Amino acid sequence: MSQRNKRAIVTGGSRGIGRAIVKELASRSCSGVLFSDIAFINNSTEESAAEIMNELKDLTDAKIYAFKADVTSFSDAQATVDDAVSKLGGVDILINNAGITRDNLLLRMTEEDFDKVLNVNLKSVFNYTKAAIRPMIAQRYGRIVNIASVVGLIGNPGQANYVASKAGVIGFTKTMARELAGKNITVNAVAPGFIETEMTAKLNEKQREQLLLNVPLKRMGKPEDVARVINFLCSEDADYITGQVIAIDGGMTM
Ligand SMILES: NC(=O)c1ccc[n+]([C@@H]2O[C@H](COP(=O)([O-])OP(=O)(O)OC[C@H]3O[C@@H](n4cnc5c(N)ncnc54)[C@H](O)[C@@H]3O)[C@@H](O)[C@H]2O)c1
Repeated sequence: MSQRNKRAIVTGGSRGIGRAIVKELASRSCSGVLFSDIAFINNSTEESAAEIMNELKDLTDAKIYAFKADVTSFSDAQATVDDAVSKLGGVDILINNAGITRDNLLLRMTEEDFDKVLNVNLKSVFNYTKAAIRPMIAQRYGRIVNIASVVGLIGNPGQANYVASKAGVIGFTKTMARELAGKNITVNAVAPGFIETEMTAKLNEKQREQLLLNVPLKRMGKPEDVARVINFLCSEDADYITGQVIAIDGGMTM
């Protein structure tokens, strides 16, 4: 696989970290990127894809496509992969990024919020990985990166559902790394700390100050900080790395 010749799928790619990943892969490694999302705010899938291509027009001529899909649905995952194979000619990279939070202390957490977070954050990774590995196995090449979280490593009060889902993603990553290594497919996870996106926009000033006390680099991360590491894990420079969890957290966990 030569540089800038790969074909990627990114879930939850219309905003936040996912959008930064789409842009990073399209400008550095890929000839085509298809991103899926459940929501295309104010935009059609075509408009969303065209908007990103326009933002990147001076950097790359990679083709970008968008696909409306709910990551909790296996049939939507299969349809996303089929669409990527038909539009891009194959799939080399899968980035399982879509995720949500529904925070509450366990005493107040509803069963519905537990199930919802596990479905969107963990079952999605099963759905998309299962659908994407068929073409990857056939070509004996694949790079899969799952977005976990530092809280999946250290726990966090008020996030039992989210932490369980992200710890599950880490276990799934290591198992897939072992299952798929013989097919030349690497599977890694990244564990972001506090990254500036709409997911963390809910935090008030006091919560931010409190959280930054535990970050040696004394700033929140940017979506691009995460996207660059993901691009590295999908590059030739990372061919001998599999089953790892890379924290991108300003030193919060070490
Ligand atoms: N922002 C952070 O500080 C942080 C920290 C650690 C991990 N993460 C993880 O990074 C990933 C991206 O987070 P973000 O901060 O960019 O969040 P975000 O809320 O800005 O973006 C998440 C995207 O996922 C999509 N999505 C949600 N439910 C979906 C579904 N059912 N089907 C398809 N798409 C769906 C949303 O529409 C959105 O585009 C998530 O997995 C999150 O858990 C974020």
